[in-house]
Amino acid sequence: MTVDSIQDKTCSAEKMVTKGLKGVVAADTTISDVDGDLGKLIYRGYSIDDLANFSTFEETAYLLLKGELPDQKQRADFNTLLVHHREIEPQVLHFLRTLPRGIPPMTALRSAVSVSGAYDPLAEDESPAANFQKTIRLTSEMTTIVAAIRRLSVGLEPVSPRADLSHAGNFLYMLNGVAPSSDAEKAMDLILILHAEHGLNASTFAARVIAATLSDMYSSVTGAISALKGPLHGGANTEVLKTLMQVGTVENVIPWVEGVRAKKGKFMGFGHAVYKVEDPRAAHLKELSRRLGIETSNTKWYDISIAMEQAVLASIHKHCNVDFYSASLQHYMGIPGDLFTCVFAASRIVGWCAHVLEQLHDNKIIRPSSNYVGPAERKYLPIARRVWFGWLLRAKSFVLRTRCVCHNLTKGGVTEAERLQDSSAGDDRIAKRGGVTEPNSSVMQ
Ligand SMILES: CC(C)(COP(=O)(O)OP(=O)(O)OC[C@H]1O[C@@H](n2cnc3c(N)ncnc32)[C@H](O)[C@@H]1OP(=O)(O)O)[C@@H](O)C(=O)NCCC(=O)NCCS
Repeated sequence: MTVDSIQDKTCSAEKMVTKGLKGVVAADTTISDVDGDLGKLIYRGYSIDDLANFSTFEETAYLLLKGELPDQKQRADFNTLLVHHREIEPQVLHFLRTLPRGIPPMTALRSAVSVSGAYDPLAEDESPAANFQKTIRLTSEMTTIVAAIRRLSVGLEPVSPRADLSHAGNFLYMLNGVAPSSDAEKAMDLILILHAEHGLNASTFAARVIAATLSDMYSSVTGAISALKGPLHGGANTEVLKTLMQVGTVENVIPWVEGVRAKKGKFMGFGHAVYKVEDPRAAHLKELSRRLGIETSNTKWYDISIAMEQAVLASIHKHCNVDFYSASLQHYMGIPGDLFTCVFAASRIVGWCAHVLEQLHDNKIIRPSSNYVGPAERKYLPIARRVWFGWLLRAKSFVLRTRCVCHNLTKGGVTEAERLQDSSAGDDRIAKRGGVTEPNSSVMQ
């Protein structure tokens, strides 16, 4: 296929490609709205600022899943359900023990959620009631799995959940083996609220695509975890901490920014597919990071982050996103960097499940089309002939080029008719041997 014909196809009006599906509207949703120009995020109509300031993770999860904030009884019942599902199946714990040391925690989480589905008797029940139960179970057990992954990775025994603690408090308890301070519990609660939902981001879209095939909830969540793991999505927070450690001091920030620019590298934790202004979640995380820096008498990581935010903004005009201050904040909370994306997943599980439920409520399989720019249709060649044929094409091209050079040198040479006759001779020979005809000539150009 010629370059010209490829360009024609790419530009064909009916099949205009929107790279990354940016700006393509693929679903109606009532779950959340991300306003990239104004820097606003709402969950079911409620500003993320109000939820961050006044709500709890449990209440926010209820809102995202049910569409309304709960009253007192509804909140109590919902909490009871979540607490009921905190324990994980012994087989899931056993599975985690068998995993090799040193694998990425997100790999362990992805695999454990898949295994958990194998032990859920409701896994293949697609009724709305069963899907809601699976949502609660997944939301609840995610923190237990993440905490177990962490403890096993450093040779510690997993800690059983406690029923008397909040979702955030119990998560920290299972991670550290001691009940958290009220400040630490609030910080984790805030992290969980802010990461719970964000429209049709890559992992949520993956979950919806899988749900739309009428696969099961565990498959959707496993796919979503896989998408979140990537450093261009949820994996960015882990990369941000690595960067903070590498930079090490406020003085090193400017040379580091210049170095990344010179190599045309990426600034992890900066830029966003939707926000053109500051990510509204970042402001809350930044303030908390500042406070924890002061409380722990170690503002170093916050100070480097601030310097980095200013320098990157000045350099590439990209604001920081949710992952940037989440790194210094979680570091202050004693959470290891390679676990950050798992913490993200333990929160986003609510958004994923809400979207799966919404997709199933009015389902249509998601099947975009592609713009084919490969070779035109060509004839199949039996394997025994392919090597010969490849050699023949190369020889033919060599002969043509040599003749052309000779022709230019001598200003004489063969006639066009002679050239065509000669170039087709090899093909005739192939046809006589095996009856194989030449592929479409446009392909060979
Ligand atoms: C999030 C992200 C993938 C969005 O990508 P996008 O939708 O293509 O964003 P934009 O359209 O604004 O990007 C346009 C250009 O700006 C530049 N740019 C955007 N973010 C950048 C960053 N963090 N560092 C350096 N350059 C960046 C790139 O040149 C990009 O062109 P590319 O497509 O050739 O890479 C991107 O900003 C990024 O890679 N950020 C770092 C990873 C990260 O923090 N991810 C978490 C997101 S919450």
